[in-house]
Amino acid sequence: MAGLVEEARGRLGPQAARPALRWKIGALPAVSGDPELLRLVWINLLSNALKYSSRQPQPEVQVGTQPADGGTLAFFVRDNGVGFDVRYAGKLFNVFQRLHRQSEFAGTGIGLATVRRVVERHGGRVWAESTINEGATFYFCIGEEHAGTP
Ligand SMILES: Nc1ncnc2c1ncn2[C@@H]1O[C@H](COP(=O)(O)OP(=O)(O)O)[C@@H](O)[C@H]1O
Ligand SMILES: [Mg+2]
Repeated sequence: MAGLVEEARGRLGPQAARPALRWKIGALPAVSGDPELLRLVWINLLSNALKYSSRQPQPEVQVGTQPADGGTLAFFVRDNGVGFDVRYAGKLFNVFQRLHRQSEFAGTGIGLATVRRVVERHGGRVWAESTINEGATFYFCIGEEHAGTP
């Protein structure tokens, strides 16, 4: 996963090169899975983190893991951006569901749906937390049979 995050970061475009941007990347264990698809998960989560923190004078994106229910490990991507209303947290993972206006933050609304499809194909699940104007955290677990050596 550490390698995939590095590759994903390399594909993010100009926003990732902002001098003010701070990255905090923790240790990420290996998993067994489809690298192309899992890279897509990171690209989508990281590009959202950059986009929705782009108005911050000091954007910060954190990537790491934390223990989750059932003894599994959750990977997460956290930003200090505009956040979203948690009442709609479930909807974000459906195609074309967006909580921000096109004029505010451009997008197509398929990124998180793709994330969910890939994660579910790997026997896992996705969820998100946020406080408006304080940022958002997107989590995912990979199924036991895909968990690799740390
Ligand atoms: N890091 C984030 N911070 C705040 N809102 C987010 C974040 N990531 C996703 N969202 C919300 O979820 C919606 C769906 O995300 P996504 O499917 O990636 O679509 P898009 O990025 O094209 O808008 C976004 O339109 C936005 O409202
Ligand atoms: Mg997106």
